[in-house]
Amino acid sequence: MAETDYSVRSFKGGYDDNLTYLVSCMRTGNQFLVDAAIPLKQLKPFVNRRGLIALFITHTHGDHIAYIDEYVDAFPNLVSMVYKESEDKVKCHYIKPVKQGDIVTVGQLSLEVYYTPGHYPDSVCYLLDDILFTGDTLFVGRTGRTISKGSDTRTLYRSVYDTIMELPDQTTIYPGHDYGPKMTITLKDNIAISPLLQAEDEDDFVQRMADYEADRTIGS
Ligand SMILES: [Fe+2]
Repeated sequence: MAETDYSVRSFKGGYDDNLTYLVSCMRTGNQFLVDAAIPLKQLKPFVNRRGLIALFITHTHGDHIAYIDEYVDAFPNLVSMVYKESEDKVKCHYIKPVKQGDIVTVGQLSLEVYYTPGHYPDSVCYLLDDILFTGDTLFVGRTGRTISKGSDTRTLYRSVYDTIMELPDQTTIYPGHDYGPKMTITLKDNIAISPLLQAEDEDDFVQRMADYEADRTIGS
């Protein structure tokens, strides 16, 4: 793996404890965002003179791209990465459609695209070194939910178990919402605290998801 040097700053707010990440390549000064769920004014003090050059969209649920217009207005050359079938859902002058296995480079940083549908058909995760930006596919303490239009629990199982959980144990997830006991966690520790990540097989996962949703209904 190439040596890299970068910082990740987390911003919380937006619709529902959303998280947006500002990543800076320390060698080139280039900066990019993961999701646009937070107003620009919250991030602006941390954007350098070069300005933002890229936005990596984890999926096109409205809360994750809520403030994209502000970013496009402020940084007209911004390039937005989004899953290839959702280009028309994003309002940006420059859109780069991505798919499984693509590598996108910003400054000296390279991100690998993992296609992880289930929570939503255009969900992707982005791997930077040993950091995985998971959007709403995987949170600290549980997976994403599959209750919205286009969700599919069995597809989510395959994305989480066959794609994400195949990554090294020490991979750290940076999710799209702050729903857990802490902001980030390694895959290994997340499996240990998450009943939804301990399913024996696909059917068991479907049952665990159904139980989880039933518990939420009772509790709310
Ligand atoms: Fe979502």
